[in-house]
Amino acid sequence: MMSIVIRMGDIYESVMELAKRRGFVWPTSECYGAVAGFVDYGPLGAMMKRNVENLWRRFYVIREGYYEIECPTVGSESIYIASGHVKGFADKMCQCPQCREYLRADHVAEAHGTNGAACLSAEDLAALLHGLPCPACGELLENPAVFDFNLMFETSIGPGSQRKGYLRPETAQGIFTDFNRLVRFYRNRLPFGAVQIGKSYRNEISPRQGMIRLREFTQAEAEIFVHPDQKEHPNFSAYADYAMPLLGIEQQQKSTPSILVTMKDAVAQGLVANEYVAYYLALTHDLLLRAGVDAEKLRFRQHLPDERAHYAEDCWDAEIFSERFGWVETVGIADRTDYDLRAHAKESGESFTVFIPFDEVRYETRRRIVADMGVLGPQYRGRAKRIADALAVATPGNEGAEVTIDGETIFIPKSLYREVEEQVEIRGIEVRPHVIEPSYGIDRMLYAVLEHSYAEEMVEGEVRKVLRLPPDIAPVQVAVFPLMNRDGLDEIALSITGILAERAILAQYDDSGAIGRRYRRQDEIGTPFAVTVDYDTREDGTVTVRDRDTMRQVRLPIGDLPETLASLIAGTLRFDQL
Ligand code: GAP
Repeated sequence: MMSIVIRMGDIYESVMELAKRRGFVWPTSECYGAVAGFVDYGPLGAMMKRNVENLWRRFYVIREGYYEIECPTVGSESIYIASGHVKGFADKMCQCPQCREYLRADHVAEAHGTNGAACLSAEDLAALLHGLPCPACGELLENPAVFDFNLMFETSIGPGSQRKGYLRPETAQGIFTDFNRLVRFYRNRLPFGAVQIGKSYRNEISPRQGMIRLREFTQAEAEIFVHPDQKEHPNFSAYADYAMPLLGIEQQQKSTPSILVTMKDAVAQGLVANEYVAYYLALTHDLLLRAGVDAEKLRFRQHLPDERAHYAEDCWDAEIFSERFGWVETVGIADRTDYDLRAHAKESGESFTVFIPFDEVRYETRRRIVADMGVLGPQYRGRAKRIADALAVATPGNEGAEVTIDGETIFIPKSLYREVEEQVEIRGIEVRPHVIEPSYGIDRMLYAVLEHSYAEEMVEGEVRKVLRLPPDIAPVQVAVFPLMNRDGLDEIALSITGILAERAILAQYDDSGAIGRRYRRQDEIGTPFAVTVDYDTREDGTVTVRDRDTMRQVRLPIGDLPETLASLIAGTLRFDQL
């Protein structure tokens, strides 16, 4: 069947119209007036989202072997004091003096041609915004005051508001705070990783971008703990020759396009900091293409020095192009060094290290102070034992040693102790791992896949809307139609639906309307295969199987359907091989 791709109108409008009408994405609590920054996933959207998450799990949990954990979405204040979110997780905001609308100051500046506005100070932003039109009412902004707005949703834990808590702004912190238990789970061996998929919350200032900027969204994050001096990925060879376009700092500064480079060369040339970061850049590229992102609309951009967090060794964003929103950061891949574990160690007083045993026990000569308790005891009475313990680990000076007890620094003269030299056995060392973090936004991925897979074509004089979703991402995988709703065709079709369900294939039975209409309905929601039961089925036990993309049909015996369809969905068989 001939199909001609036709020119589409505003693709965002078309995709969102389809998404709403067919039950992918709905405005939330519409009956009370939808709230910006929140969406509901309808039956097809929730199913598709689950498929995207499960694809992610196939890569990170099954292939990489990083176990999934699940932590609460409410966290106590100390977590976010340690992580730096209480102090610094803020965007710059201003208010329009005319319409009183709150505006994201850097977004207004960027919309008027300033690059990297998020890195500017409040004063610089205020100066830039002066005289620009308010995006909400169009009036000119006059000397707007720009100030920080913390994006965390605050809450209280338990009655009486005694304990402050926050809705988590990222899933990562749960993995960091579980680190000491994870170390034991993984038997004290580096590297290891843990992942989490779940909701995160950010009180975005003016979310006007549908599924792109939400106040409640789903993240899929992996935290991979590696030895600080061993950043060679044990399985690097799997992606060493994987070539993909990278937009490094140099290309951005010289305004030149991305360069196509293998991961091996990217590390060798110093474009990517280490094998771990390169490995997850390639894996992310691989995963996004498998999910249905268009390779031509995907780029990997390195953070510029003033954009990168001060502690990060390297940081890249996987950006996906959307007709409406331009390049949208969808995945962040960073080497965060030991920043997070150090921060939690400081706040909690726990170690956040891994004990790495040496291959062979080492011996060191150390000087140790041994207190003379005969003199120290009567002089310091109740505190003598604690002073002696503190002296044992203190560094002696020429005249004596200083110890701190209950906040008081006490000088102990040489006459009250003797120094001994001893051989100490050292079995290993405490190491604070570095963290490699690939962090995915599932909602942004889902929107990108919808937009990139959407097409309108002319087929036999009619417009066919189609979502060319990968079969295992499509919410419905097989449609089953009886040609007529009688003569036993419906019973055969229903029994086929049941057989496919047994095989864990999501099959949808549909007997309403002309067969052409039924095909169109399924094309529109991306169903990759349709099975039609007709009068020949009663004679010879065969059915037609139609491929969504080519609209070609083949006849197959009913008995072959479960195996064949399962292979087509898994991608181990192509339709043209049938
Ligand atoms: N733990 C690191 C972290 O959270 P991030 O760049 O702030 O890094 C990671 O977020 C991903 O989460 C982003 O690349 C994006 O896909 C998604 N994300 C962040 N804020 C979002 C929002 N307001 N709405 C939808 N997705 C968001």
